Amino acid sequence: MSTSSEFDLPKKENWGSKIGVIAAVAGSAVGLGNFLRFPGTAVNNGGGAFMIPYIISFLILGIPIAWCEWTMGRLGGMRGQNNGPGILYSLWQRAPAKVVGTLTLIIPITVYMYYVLLEALCLRYAIEFFSGGFADLFSSALADAGESAGTQTITNAAGDFAVESFGLAENGHMYGNAMFWLVPVCFLVNFIIIYRGIAKGIERFCVVAMPMLIGCAIIILIRVLTLDNVVDGRTINGGLGFMWNPDWSKLLEPEVWLRAAGQIFFSLSVGFGLILCYASYLRKDDDVVLTSLSASSTNEFCEVVLGGMIVVPAAFLFLGAENASGSTFGLGFFTVPAIMHFMPGGSFFGGVWFGLLFIAAVTSSISMLQPAIAFLEDGFGLKRRASVTLLGLVTLVGAAPIMYFSMDATALDFTDFWCEFMMILAGLGQVLIFGWVIGAEKGVEEANRGAAIRIPKFMGFVIRYVTPSFLLIILGLWLYFEGPGRVRAMIPSIQGQAAVEKTYADAVKGQPEFADLNDEAIAVRVVEFFADTSAVGRPEWIAIAVQDAAKAKAGAEKQAMVAAFVFVCVCGMFILIYALSDIACRNRIGRMLAQSESGEGI
Ligand code: ALA
Repeated sequence: MSTSSEFDLPKKENWGSKIGVIAAVAGSAVGLGNFLRFPGTAVNNGGGAFMIPYIISFLILGIPIAWCEWTMGRLGGMRGQNNGPGILYSLWQRAPAKVVGTLTLIIPITVYMYYVLLEALCLRYAIEFFSGGFADLFSSALADAGESAGTQTITNAAGDFAVESFGLAENGHMYGNAMFWLVPVCFLVNFIIIYRGIAKGIERFCVVAMPMLIGCAIIILIRVLTLDNVVDGRTINGGLGFMWNPDWSKLLEPEVWLRAAGQIFFSLSVGFGLILCYASYLRKDDDVVLTSLSASSTNEFCEVVLGGMIVVPAAFLFLGAENASGSTFGLGFFTVPAIMHFMPGGSFFGGVWFGLLFIAAVTSSISMLQPAIAFLEDGFGLKRRASVTLLGLVTLVGAAPIMYFSMDATALDFTDFWCEFMMILAGLGQVLIFGWVIGAEKGVEEANRGAAIRIPKFMGFVIRYVTPSFLLIILGLWLYFEGPGRVRAMIPSIQGQAAVEKTYADAVKGQPEFADLNDEAIAVRVVEFFADTSAVGRPEWIAIAVQDAAKAKAGAEKQAMVAAFVFVCVCGMFILIYALSDIACRNRIGRMLAQSESGEGI
């Protein structure tokens, strides 16, 4: 890259070592997605049934997209670009490259805004385990329950703790509880590491953190697999069997395919733009093929072997199949504390488990910040201190409403939903640029430069045709099955009406007038029934139901407004980042490319 007096060009940074870059990329991939999202998603989608689409998605989406990102990232880096829009624009000077580049910036920043809250939650859980807080909580729950104390008492107490920590029952609750202080602590940890830069910050941290977290996970895995094998007739093998016996009929369910593809994107951090950014700090002949495979395999080992074999079998053993499921993160935050209580040495192992989750989360969240830092530095010439401060403020402002609108985790859930949508688009955009703009053959050749093992030729075909087609199918299924429900969820009148109908339907259950009707018939009659105020001497339960329905309506309308607010914010951010990318590409990035010695096409 040529230097110019015209610009204060950012100092070119590089990874310090090969092992360092693998640790950093694996660190970016290995996170809460592996240890919390994967077990929860697998259990909720049929266990073994989920594993088939999951493995297919890994082979057809995960590996090829990762190779594309690594190769394009390294190319962009050779042209002086470390940010998504700059890297893609350096390969293709057209508006779609800026659109895809914008996605690779908005996704990591937005995921960071809610991811850091889950990170803080892990920290809180680790502190509670190590300080004996959970042991005290469970003892007093058992004492309060008296004679009726049992497994359910513990799971309920753990559930209540999670609800309180994350403010799931009431908006604004996190602003007054212990989490309020842990969130800034997590911000500080992340931004200090980022401030120190690529080799001295991210790489050094990941080189220490990755072996540490894998070591801790192996210790817990051994503890789980050597537990007494039978509790109330249930065995560890029951849980393992659930994860590893495929149910072929599930392959016909589109939902399972969608969840599997989404998990691969989230877990491998492909489509995020993170790999694009990290790979741009490689040198010209640094290996990308084997490095990518090593990072992906480390991720899969952590996800399937460690994540899948710790939480799921233990949950089956202690709590049974019926209590082992729940929401995606419910298994991790509601069920795991209860499991740890039943496990010998649970306070210690619980602390280690949530401590390792916290470390895994940090290695991922720092990678979500780097693309934006690189964009501010490359695109606007900001110095490290200014870019870190600015990004800190932006992400804090973004995390604040997600923290505030904590009821039922609505804001978090919708933010995650739109991020997953954008990941599919960004993955598709990148694979199309690689396969059709650079050209799959040329691209594979470029990837093979300096590679310890070569990408086989047929991968060019896969990248050009198979991966984009698979992604288009996933996108179509996604829009068909998920889109309409999510759009309805943003319309207050629809949500309000649905809440009223549900409250009324619950209220009439068991009432003689409705005893012979099925759910559908009740749904038709119920609103009319309650609206008819002419009947004299209406029993008290009707008045109560009318009041409850009014409350439920107001609550549902508010939740719909939160969902709509998230959508508006994501769209607004997209427009703003696109405008900034456009300015940067026209001015600074464009001129940097023109001056770059390696700016000629590949
Ligand atoms: N890939 C990261 C994770 O799995 C985001 O948590």
